[in-house]
Amino acid sequence: MDALRRMEYRGYDSAGIALVGPDNTIHASKKAGKLVNLEAELDESPLPEANLGIGHTRWATHGAPSDANAHPHVSASGRVALIHNGIIENFAGLRAELEASGVGFRSQTDSEVAAHLVGREVDNGLGLADALRTVSQRLEGAFTLVAVDRDEPGLLVASRRNSPLVVGVGEGEMFVASDVAAFIEHTREAVEMGQDEVVEVTASGYRVTDFDGNETQGKPYHVDWDLSAAEKGGYDWFMRKEIHEQPHAVADTLLGRFDADHRLTLDEIRISETELRAIDKIVVVACGTAYYAGLVAKYAIEHWTRVACEVEIASEFRYRDPIITPRTLVVTISQSGETADTLMAVRHAREQGAKVIAICNTNGSTIPRESDAVLYTHAGPEIGVASTKGFLTQMAACYLLGLYLAQVRGTKYGDEIALVMTELETMPAKIQAVLDNAEAVHALARELVDEKSVLFLGRHVGYPVALEGALKLKEIAYLHAEGFPAGELKHGPIALVEEGLPIFVIVPPQGRDQLHDKVLSNIQEVRARGARTIVLVEEGDTEVEPYADEVIRLPKASTLLQPLLATVPLQIFACEVATLKGYDVDQPRNLAKSVTVE
Ligand code: AGP
Repeated sequence: MDALRRMEYRGYDSAGIALVGPDNTIHASKKAGKLVNLEAELDESPLPEANLGIGHTRWATHGAPSDANAHPHVSASGRVALIHNGIIENFAGLRAELEASGVGFRSQTDSEVAAHLVGREVDNGLGLADALRTVSQRLEGAFTLVAVDRDEPGLLVASRRNSPLVVGVGEGEMFVASDVAAFIEHTREAVEMGQDEVVEVTASGYRVTDFDGNETQGKPYHVDWDLSAAEKGGYDWFMRKEIHEQPHAVADTLLGRFDADHRLTLDEIRISETELRAIDKIVVVACGTAYYAGLVAKYAIEHWTRVACEVEIASEFRYRDPIITPRTLVVTISQSGETADTLMAVRHAREQGAKVIAICNTNGSTIPRESDAVLYTHAGPEIGVASTKGFLTQMAACYLLGLYLAQVRGTKYGDEIALVMTELETMPAKIQAVLDNAEAVHALARELVDEKSVLFLGRHVGYPVALEGALKLKEIAYLHAEGFPAGELKHGPIALVEEGLPIFVIVPPQGRDQLHDKVLSNIQEVRARGARTIVLVEEGDTEVEPYADEVIRLPKASTLLQPLLATVPLQIFACEVATLKGYDVDQPRNLAKSVTVE
């Protein structure tokens, strides 16, 4: 239970444990809700003493938070208990295979599939470790699995692919966990597991193999973090950790969206394709950073579907007597799924007869529950108040929605959609490249830390990125900042420009009609008035150099997808300035992670 409490920061909506009792039986207990619910359950119905057990705090991806969907999951014969972190992309086919063989499922989770598969292998005579190796080879996507078998009471096995797993080596006791925070108070001797590896753990030690059973070596290391740093994966802030999780988060959001015949599928669509084809207007409703994701969505959705797409600030939407009909599709974007302004907008839209699709990062939260369909982002829990991976995965989800609508309405051919999806699938690696080349941004933060005001300019989808860059600086560095459409400056705000004023400019890719050249002239306008121009531009674009005081290079990307890259240096910049100022980056003053009041 201490270990589960240490994992609390990862966010969860249910929790459970399973013990292998001395009588060779599995004793399991699991509850939806906060960890205290499980503790109350265990107080009421205590489990027997045991020296082998597994525990799990769930961040729901498939299946809403409930007792049944909580882990551990027990195999059909009751022999094996298993917990899982990640997304098993091919679970649907495996579930059908198991159901066809008579297995009854007790949950809607992808994880339960793994429990039954491992259970079936041990029922057929395989040892637990071989069973887990066999099953791990069949699973696609991202998983950390931990399993016990009541008939092998001294053994715990775990496997990982694209999901974290670390072993803790104690004195006569052993641990496995998603991160060292779970066991750091018992031992600082850890062993990092590699991709596609299985570890067999007994009280006296551990053995690592690949999925074929060939012995390999884990990477032992000494953990010198304190507990607080451990929860942040060694980063100083959750926000910085979450900025660095973005490649993974975007990849997870894109994972498994194409079905066998390469058609896009969304999580829980309860809106028929006929209804989606009848839509004559789309209205995106959100707040703050999520609203900026909606602004990016507008450009993509209108370009791909040719349906008018309005983007509304939720707190304004409801009071302006909007024109909503049954042929309006309302799309809400919310990381928390609990933002009151957005929730009220959803209720208003549904009262007007509109269909509502929710883009959300929190499974089972209020907004998806009150919507007709949901497209979950799989960013994992976002702890930092300032949204980072939430924003990038919201944009990724908006692209998926735009492509899905284009597919349903036939405004883009399958091969055109596949082309965009192929580029989208290259974005995690490109985001990683931006993260790996951020030294210039850190240096810039050190130079600009005492500035009193910063402007951000962008055109087209670069404009919402400018707004987001400004918001990040406002909310964590408490620095006045403002984002503008680059073409708007000359209509007044250019009066703000004076000697040395730092202005970030997001430059669109070259060859995009005149958009690129227009932004170049906007840069010259402000530079001529003394601004310090910090230009974000794709690699190879040398046209901007004569007008840029600083150049931040971005990997090449098409116009509509560039926000996934251009946003990242601005997040890093804001985080660095706030850190240099000594502020609490994760809990900025006056702010809350989820604004559940109107
Ligand atoms: C973003 O950094 C802020 N934390 C805030 O603007 C946030 O995006 C907004 O409150 C919406 O939250 P939601 O996505 O959970 O609905």
